[in-house]
Amino acid sequence: MKVVSIVGARPQFIKAAPVSWALRQKHTEILAHTGQHYDLRMSQIFFSEMGLPEPDMNLGVGSGQPGWQIGEMLTRLETVIQNAKPDWVLVYGDTNSTLAGALAARIAQVPLAHVEAGLRSFNRQMPEERNRVLTDHCSDLLFCPTQNAVDLLAKEGITRGVHLVGDTMYDAVRQFSEVARQRSTILHELDLKPKNFVLTTIHRPYNTDMPTNLENILTALEKLDERVVFPVHPRTRKKIQELHFGARVPSANVLMIEPVGYLDMLALEQNARLILTDSGGIQKEAFFFATPCVTIRPETEWVETLQAGWNVLVQPVAQEIWRAVKQFAPVGQPPAVFGDGHAAARCVALLEANLQRM
Ligand code: UD1
Ligand code: UDP
Repeated sequence: MKVVSIVGARPQFIKAAPVSWALRQKHTEILAHTGQHYDLRMSQIFFSEMGLPEPDMNLGVGSGQPGWQIGEMLTRLETVIQNAKPDWVLVYGDTNSTLAGALAARIAQVPLAHVEAGLRSFNRQMPEERNRVLTDHCSDLLFCPTQNAVDLLAKEGITRGVHLVGDTMYDAVRQFSEVARQRSTILHELDLKPKNFVLTTIHRPYNTDMPTNLENILTALEKLDERVVFPVHPRTRKKIQELHFGARVPSANVLMIEPVGYLDMLALEQNARLILTDSGGIQKEAFFFATPCVTIRPETEWVETLQAGWNVLVQPVAQEIWRAVKQFAPVGQPPAVFGDGHAAARCVALLEANLQRM
């Protein structure tokens, strides 16, 4: 079996790593990197740290307006798929690289499988929501991380090719959290004590592209009377610079650092007292590690984390963020709703089993 896997943005390297290992045990994988993310700490670091095979090709698309970016990726991916003539195209998550990969597979008339299918925020303002709805509606196999995702697809009339496999990010956490414990030195480097700091990441346009929201978030961080570790996404760093907020941050308690690698991130997530984020993947990783999570978004597609009481949503309002970070204290343990750590193996088995039927 020959599979073209398409990745391009940070979370996709992590989602793809367990699937890529499982695939390569018996099959041929061509890993195509669109080049959506390109900084060393947004891309290469994950390949080296996770032992993810180097991409067979990097299409070097880079940053730009969404329409241009998707168009460039589509044009280049179409050629890749036509030349490779694979049995499957495999796409991950909900980025512009996902949508471009899905459209390219359809145009090249190659069967398409979507890992992390069925997620919905019901907010069409989000580019990710448009990308995932369109990708799901043109996929032949839909690998869902949760039962809720399966149910949401059924409500949209999609039942054929839908499989509950679990979450490949959970596979990755199971495979790497012990490695992170042994190898990461970030706590020592930053002089952090376990359960004595808040970890924060912010990168959604809703929070970064509206100056008031970004300013409110920075104000809340400054007012916290505890240490805050803030690995800053390049989009956010650019906005902080453009809006001249750089002059007032970092304040003494807020440690703004470059994006970190996966092992350091897992070490920070496991040891944080609380995580304050707008990331999709980090809400789940907080849940896996039973680290309380405050999410600065109007809604989340990871509703299981809310229902279990380990995640809470807040508006980008300084006082609300501050109060939630100070007061949110879940009890008990998060339930196992993201699978058993073998999602990747199930994806590969389903690709094999459906090979002849497409
Ligand atoms: C993208 C995804 C988002 C995902 C996020 C993961 C889309 C629509 N959005 O958002 O779903 O949560 O990746 O991190 O696909 N930049 C750099 N260096 C890089 C990459 C980006 O400097 O290596 C800067 C550029 O100025 C770029 C900006 O970040 O314009 C935004 O990058 P882009 O890939 O368009 O979107 P993200 O915000 O990263
Ligand atoms: N991540 C990382 N270093 C960082 C920030 C995030 O390794 O500095 C990892 C994080 O552990 C998770 C993934 O990147 O696995 C989440 O990606 P991101 O927040 O960029 O995107 P989203 O999940 O919101 O799409």
